[in-house]
Formats: sequence, structure tokens, C-alpha cells
Amino acid sequence: MKHWLEESIFYEIYPQSFNDSNGDGIGDIPGILEKLDYIKELGCNAIWLNPCYLSPFGDAGYDVADYCLAAPRYGTNDDLVQLFEEAHKRDMHVILDFVPGHTSTEHPWFKESCKAEPNEYWGRYIWSDNIWVDVANYEGISGSLRGLYPRNGSVAVNFFSNQPALNYGFANPTESWQSAVDSPEALGTRQAMKDAMSFWLSKGCDGFRVDMAGSLVKNDPDGRETTKLWQDVRSFLDKTYPDAVLISEWGEPDKSLLGGFHMDFLLHFGPSHYMDLFRCEHPYFSREGKGNAFPFVETYMKNYHLTNKKGLICIPSGNHDMERIRKYLDYGELKLVYAFLLSMPGAPFLYYGDEIGMRHLKLSSVEGGYDRTGARTPMQWNTENNYGFSDAPVEKLYTAQDSSVDAPVVSEQIKTQDSLWHEIQKLIKIRRDFPALCASGAIEFVYCEPNKYPLVYLRSDGNNRILAALNPSRENVSCKCPYELKEIIYTLGNTIKLENEMLSMPGESAAYVSVV
Ligand code: NOJ
Repeated sequence: MKHWLEESIFYEIYPQSFNDSNGDGIGDIPGILEKLDYIKELGCNAIWLNPCYLSPFGDAGYDVADYCLAAPRYGTNDDLVQLFEEAHKRDMHVILDFVPGHTSTEHPWFKESCKAEPNEYWGRYIWSDNIWVDVANYEGISGSLRGLYPRNGSVAVNFFSNQPALNYGFANPTESWQSAVDSPEALGTRQAMKDAMSFWLSKGCDGFRVDMAGSLVKNDPDGRETTKLWQDVRSFLDKTYPDAVLISEWGEPDKSLLGGFHMDFLLHFGPSHYMDLFRCEHPYFSREGKGNAFPFVETYMKNYHLTNKKGLICIPSGNHDMERIRKYLDYGELKLVYAFLLSMPGAPFLYYGDEIGMRHLKLSSVEGGYDRTGARTPMQWNTENNYGFSDAPVEKLYTAQDSSVDAPVVSEQIKTQDSLWHEIQKLIKIRRDFPALCASGAIEFVYCEPNKYPLVYLRSDGNNRILAALNPSRENVSCKCPYELKEIIYTLGNTIKLENEMLSMPGESAAYVSVV
């Protein structure tokens, strides 16, 4: 039987902003339950839920205070169980966000580790043995906290200062206070992580998106020990929860897939060139036609060859850390973007609100969002109060909403046949009808030249071969194409032509065509 990831299309839900069922201005799990049918109607069959655990929300929930408790503002653990069950009834899956690299400073483990006298949790975080030795001066550690707690030492942080790094040890310990990866304290942290995963898997969750998955072992520049750690987690899961899916925020698929992850995210930072396509001064998908997809394709194909048959690379439309794609591209251009995203290998990830082209708003920071806050605004469901997101008074909403007269809303786009929403729905359906377009269908680029249009690639599954051709630029373009077209499966804009092995495409057009 095919693995469910093969046909999966993920929908990322930032719980704060999706649907508020109790009128407190913040989204919640019962609110998500109300919208499961909506997600299914769009065609998505899997959900990634950003952290929904107890937290002081200094980093929107990525500062966990209890791995095994739903944040009361979102509901209860039972609500989450109901979400898993209702999703499964609809043939959908739910993965939670798992944050193994750090906790909140409010986590009871951290509070214990700050005490002057040694105790069970003294080794759970990375402390130097002397306040005058700053852990931030050591390889792989980005910052530290000093002088705030009774304990005589400084402690490493993994991201913001309210996120102390959990101790998984050092690949090459050089100081007496640095734990080895197989020390009792480092293995204790690892076990605590396995316990938290088991807790949710036993309740019906289908797996995890793992936050900063490559960050666990310190002084591990080539990621070797972190990869080994994940292999150990995978073999533990294989024994206990073999179906559990792991998706990494790592951005180095050659390492993460070797570590046992099913998929690795293409990241908006680092060497991926993801931003060249959608979010830069001259995005490839802008109709001005000044973009360059070549560096992206080159990097993608290098990783694809390194990881083919070992796991998948997934490309998101956006996420809670990036500016909304709509900031750079308009509706027409976005349709081309989705013709691309929904015909690439791996599992596509659609960020809530991207299906209607929600805007990136200029807002002051909420819950450690800073410039990310503008991409985290409450969903715009309809033209009613607060766009149908919440009954709360407007000042209680998680953030302000788009106040423009043409703010996109779901209900209007569903009524309009040529809306972005319908285009995405159509593309998802086509993808799921053709195995060649799904997660493991092979890919080979037929035409991609530096600073040139179109972008043409072949997806195949045995004899089933589909050519995807995209011309986001407004100019007519042509390129060599050694295939014989059989049947047009999808077109956007005027139809393409193939004569004497030359493919001609009108401006702003896309097509999927089966080939001989
Ligand atoms: C990556 C998450 O996506 C981001 O939102 C968070 O702030 C950091 N990791 C720290 O956990």
C-alpha cells in the first residue's frame, strides 16, 4: 500500500490565527475542528499545527513549558485527540510541531536546573561550571544567559534568550562541563524527547514537524552526531510507532534524510535559493520576467540526486517565519506559483490564508514575531465581523487584520470561479489524479537556463510521463523540447504549441501535458 505521504498536501495552521470558537480573540482547537471540512474541500489532506503546548508565548509557542499539555487558550489534550480522530475519519492526517532543541525558561526542568544545588535536572541544559566562563564562546552555541540565576555558571540559549538549549551533548567535548553525546545527562534529555513524542503518538497524532532539527548536538559542524541521534530516535519509533512521520526543519536533506526523516523542508534561509523564486527584488514568478530560477534548480537537483529514494524535499508556499508571498506577487502571478508548487516532488505545504492570497501586514511585534507578525494575522473567512475569525471585540484579536477594501476572503473566492482558491483546488485535484505528479514521481529539468524563461520539467512514474511548462514572464517564449505531446491535463492562459521540437508559450501561461 502507498504511504499516505505520497499523495499528501499539507495545510499549515498557526493556531492563534485560524479560527476562534470561544470569542477570546485567539484561535483554538475546537475552531480548527469546525474548519476540517473546509481544508478537505480545498484538497489538503494533512495538517501541520504550529506548537500548541503550554507556553508563556515569548516565541509564539516555540518556547514550550510542558511538552505534554495543550495550552489552555487552545483547549485541552482531549480536544487534540478529537482533532486527530476527526481528521482520520476524513482520511486526513495531523502532525504536531515538536521543539526538541530548547524549552521556555518557564519549563519546570529549567527552573530546577537553575538552582544552586545539583539535582536531577542539572544536566538537562548546557551550563558552564563557572559564571565567568561564557558558554556563548563555544562552537555551535549562539548565545547565553549569565547572572540571572543562583547557579554558578552560564547557560546556552538556542534561539531567543527565553529559549535555553537542551543538552544533547557535544560531538567533541573540549571542556569538563561539556557532556558527551552518550553521557547519562545527554541520554536523559534524549529519553525525555522520546517520551514526549510517544505521549502524542499514543494519542493518535501522525508525526511531527521538528523545529531546528539540526541544532541538537553542539560542536558538531558536519552534523554527524546529530544525524546519529535522529537515527536512534527513528529506530525507537520504528519499534514503537513505525507509522510516525518525521519532517525536519533542517534544510540539509542529505543529513536529515540519512537521520531517518521522511522529508526535509526547503528553507527560506541558507543555500536553497528558494527566495529567488518568490520573494526578492526580481522573483522568477513575477511577470516582469527578470528573475533567475537557475541557481534554485541547480541546488534543488543536487539535493534531489543526493536524496532520491531516501526521502523527500518539501517546498512550502510560505510559513509563519516568512513574509506572505502575496507581498511580492499578485493573483495572476500566484496562479503560476501554485502550478509550480503543486507539480514538484515531495509534499507541498500551503500556509493558511495563502490559498486566498492574504497580504503581509505591517504590524508591531506580537509574541516574539517581530517582522514575522505580518504573516500571522487572523484568517479572513467571510465579510462578517472580524472576517468571521472571532466574535471578540476588535482590540482583543491576536493581531489586527487587513483593513483594505479588497482584503481577500474565503467566502468570496469560493463564489468566484476564476479565483486563486479555485485554481489551487483544481491543481490539487490534478496532482492527486496523476501519480507522476505526486511525491515520489521522478523529476528531470528539460529547460532551465540562467535568467531565461520558460521553466520546463518532466515528472514521471514508470510510463506515465507529464511535462510541466511554466512561463511566468509576460513575453512569448520558446525552447527546445524533445517530446511529443499527447494530452493536455492543465492549462493556464493561452495554449502552448510544440512544432519541430520547439515549444512555444504565450506570456503568463502554464501547462501540464502528458507526453509519449
Ligand atoms: C523555527 C520556527 O519556525 C520559528 O518560528 C521559531 O521562532 C524558531 N524555530 C525557534 O524555535
